[in-house]
Amino acid sequence: MTILPNLNTEGIKYVGSKLRLIPYIYDIIKELPVVNVLDGFSGTTRVSQMLANNGYKVFSNDISEWSNVFAKAYLLHNNTLKYYNDLLDHLNQIKGYKGWFTEHYGGDENSKGKKPFQIKNTMKLDGIRDEIDNLNLSDIDKSVALTSLILAMDCVDNTLGHYCSYLSGWSKRSYNNIELKIPKLCSKSRKHIVYKEDIFNIINKNYYDLVYFDPPYGSNNDKMPSSRVRYNSYYHIWTSIILNDKPSVFGNANRRMDTKDGLADSVFEDYRKNNDGNFFVLDSIKSLIHNTNAHYILLSYSSSGRVTKDDLLLILNKEGKLLQNKEIDYRTNVMGGQRWTNEWINSTNRTNEYLFLLEK
Ligand SMILES: C[S@@+](CC[C@H](N)C(=O)[O-])C[C@H]1O[C@@H](n2cnc3c(N)ncnc32)[C@H](O)[C@@H]1O
Repeated sequence: MTILPNLNTEGIKYVGSKLRLIPYIYDIIKELPVVNVLDGFSGTTRVSQMLANNGYKVFSNDISEWSNVFAKAYLLHNNTLKYYNDLLDHLNQIKGYKGWFTEHYGGDENSKGKKPFQIKNTMKLDGIRDEIDNLNLSDIDKSVALTSLILAMDCVDNTLGHYCSYLSGWSKRSYNNIELKIPKLCSKSRKHIVYKEDIFNIINKNYYDLVYFDPPYGSNNDKMPSSRVRYNSYYHIWTSIILNDKPSVFGNANRRMDTKDGLADSVFEDYRKNNDGNFFVLDSIKSLIHNTNAHYILLSYSSSGRVTKDDLLLILNKEGKLLQNKEIDYRTNVMGGQRWTNEWINSTNRTNEYLFLLEK
């Protein structure tokens, strides 16, 4: 009897999410003699979830707050479903009030949009978020509650999939009421590990059978300002929900101060060139591949990224044996519905996603 793989995953709307690439990734990995797998830039954690549900021991890493919370919930949950059910039932019954989230992110359904959520949902968010702190949960149970809260808010947003600007009308889904549900917690047939580190601190911390790299692509589109492809600014709202630190905010989108341009940039989001005329991100990828302690590396990249396919091939061929080199139509497979600006749409003819498998 053949056992079918479990490729069902769950996650927020996220630029660069590998939701639709998961079957391709699984097809490549399943042929390899690997158990320990590092998902180095785990984002929504969809790839980590798929790996855990198919028997791999997962090391899940991403530098962002939200990804870390998702990974702890999906991979490390350690209470019964009944416990989580009761916890979320309790949270769903909390009364809302006009607090910090409502002040900055709640809009009236009878006036124009330009806010990421309707007031009825931000009021619930204000109430539930305070109650999560009042309950003094363990770190992992708190991560399950926060993941559930973020997934619920993601279902009623008034955005195009990021929080740097908001729709001028109200999206249909923004009229729904939030409801916290138990996240699709993953198999713990192996002991998974979660990190929230810069990738360069992780790549030689252990020996991995395989490492999956899906770094930010930046953009090769000079009409698209660099500040608009930074994950910290795109998803500032999830950071604020997790930290509940009620920070000062700025600009029309009410972004956290610590997401101002130039602060907390990732080297993979750097759009500048060095003195040799090469993009900084090229050096970062070179160093990433070179310093990784693994038998196999599976690298995702996009044809709309800063680094070209030829550059990537040069780097990879220097570091080992290139076993696979797949090109997948990205626009129809992944980008559907995720458009930022007219310039972006009009200046991009075709965008492909690459998957390179390297044996080191
Ligand atoms: C293309 S996304 C990954 C998407 C993910 N594979 C998914 O399916 O959701 C890139 C991720 O890299 C993370 N990141 C950026 N710089 C990083 C760094 N230096 N170390 C670790 N993670 C980083 C970002 O927070 C972002 O989640």
